[in-house]
Amino acid sequence: MVPKIIMSVVFYIFLSIQLHTSMAQTNWIRAGFYMYNQYEFPISEINFALFTHIICEYAAVNSTSYQLSLSPADEQHFPEFTHTIKQNNPSVATMLSIHINGDATYSTMVSTSSNRKSFIDSSIKIARRYGFEGLDFSWQFPATSIDMFNMGILFKEWKAAIDLEATDSSRSALILTAKVYNTPKIYSTSYPIESIQQHLDWVHFFVDYIKNDISWDRHTSTEASLYNPYDFDNADCGIREWIDGGLSANKMVLTLPFYGFAWRLENPMDNGIGAPAKVQLNLCGELLDKGNNLVLLQ
Ligand SMILES: *[C@@H]1O[C@H](CO)[C@@H](O)[C@H](O)[C@H]1NC(C)=O
Repeated sequence: MVPKIIMSVVFYIFLSIQLHTSMAQTNWIRAGFYMYNQYEFPISEINFALFTHIICEYAAVNSTSYQLSLSPADEQHFPEFTHTIKQNNPSVATMLSIHINGDATYSTMVSTSSNRKSFIDSSIKIARRYGFEGLDFSWQFPATSIDMFNMGILFKEWKAAIDLEATDSSRSALILTAKVYNTPKIYSTSYPIESIQQHLDWVHFFVDYIKNDISWDRHTSTEASLYNPYDFDNADCGIREWIDGGLSANKMVLTLPFYGFAWRLENPMDNGIGAPAKVQLNLCGELLDKGNNLVLLQ
């Protein structure tokens, strides 16, 4: 895990330029992630004027019940998060990100309707209980066509459950978003674009897509470049693929990582992007603190 980066690893700029609306009328989404475990940046010091949505990272999922699994710390932090934000700026929407890292729980969760129902019902209940106005789904990464297909069903059922709950409770429907890879095609399969288009409010991209390049740690690079002369894995190519696949631009939020990696150059004179270098790890084998910028070390 990356140590202590100041709040907001990422924030987003909505790409939406809707037909028939001018730029002035466009509602840009400016969302930021806030992670309790890593950042020692008090919520009350967030400059709320910068954001339309703040997403709390994250709730985990129980690998047998498929319900959200909150630690005692989560139970303390989540209400503090939503309460502080609403008190400081009621117009900023609060969302809860749900994620699992690197195991098969999501594959099994999405694979049956009863598992999906446990997950969905629990997510809505937890969101309401702690005062969140939306849910963000983060699966890093669905690997098979079956996972992708089932994820499409999950989104459909999730949205239906959210709408039903909103009607029953006479409240605004929870916002539903997901983090996706920066291109729709991964591991020879593709995200369920049609379901995303129909059922999600928007998607945003995982950052660090340089890591898709197997030699990423051996030459200086950028985290998530808009254009990249060295590689097709960049935001521009990815967004085009999503649009070609049928996702509207107004369902996409561009992700900007607010950090960089530290590198040790092989030759100090050769210090541009793509220069031979080693990414720096700390004693625990973690990526060295990156501060706010890409740091080039000699
Ligand atoms: C996960 O859910 C199961 C079944 O409800 C429960 O027995 C178990 O304690 C839960 N695990 C955690 C870590 O909460």
